[in-house]
Amino acid sequence: MLKLGVNIDHVATLREARYRGLPQGEPSPAEAARLCEAAGAHGITAHLREDRRHLQDRDLWQLREVVQTRLNFEMANTPEIVAIALKLKPEIVCLVPERRQEVTTEGGLDVVANEQALAETRKRMNDAGIEVSLFINAIPTQIQAAAFVGAQVIELHTGRFAEHFADETERETELQRLILAAKQAHALGLRVNAGHGLNYKNLPLIHRVPHMEELNIGHSIISRAIATGLPTAVKDLLGLMSDYRG
Ligand code: PXP
Repeated sequence: MLKLGVNIDHVATLREARYRGLPQGEPSPAEAARLCEAAGAHGITAHLREDRRHLQDRDLWQLREVVQTRLNFEMANTPEIVAIALKLKPEIVCLVPERRQEVTTEGGLDVVANEQALAETRKRMNDAGIEVSLFINAIPTQIQAAAFVGAQVIELHTGRFAEHFADETERETELQRLILAAKQAHALGLRVNAGHGLNYKNLPLIHRVPHMEELNIGHSIISRAIATGLPTAVKDLLGLMSDYRG
């Protein structure tokens, strides 16, 4: 079964638009996580960025209390955030690149260039009982390096596929890249997740990518929730994912 991890950062983005710098405010990411889980989500994904532009530290601890399924902590590989992860003890961390200027995580990790540092963090997390995923572009050398680093999971960056969705030729090229990457990762013993830019329209096509275990989806769910409410937005998406055959 293809699982859904709901990326909850966007709830905090809305709160921070009004309440930045204040110790409270609405909407609450923890309450949203509870609703997503009750609607059938298999996990909650949360990214504490170094600049704290959306989730705040207090959100993380609240999420740790509330989340009953699986907390996936998205994080940059920096000493401050690594220390927080080791204290938080999420079920899994997803290491991502972070640039302050970006609107959202734009590219995948350069695992090849950062093999040593990633391998060290991977080991520290695993020693603490936390699984490790690496968010990467569908590039053979990066996938090979992810296996070398010893990650349990890769999350394939689907952003380019989503961006090019309107152009049939371009989207087919991106889809083929993702298909090959998933096959390569699976052959190397890596588990395969995917995410970024996935929505109710482009999701059916992503079913052609084999071996996927989990999709991490945020923006489109929170956007749809404005019209339908969060439980319906989650259930609609789970319905679209239910006929995935791997
Ligand atoms: N996976 C990763 C690693 C991400 O950084 C994001 C964006 O926060 C997502 C998945 C979800 O992307 P989207 O909000 O476009 O669904």
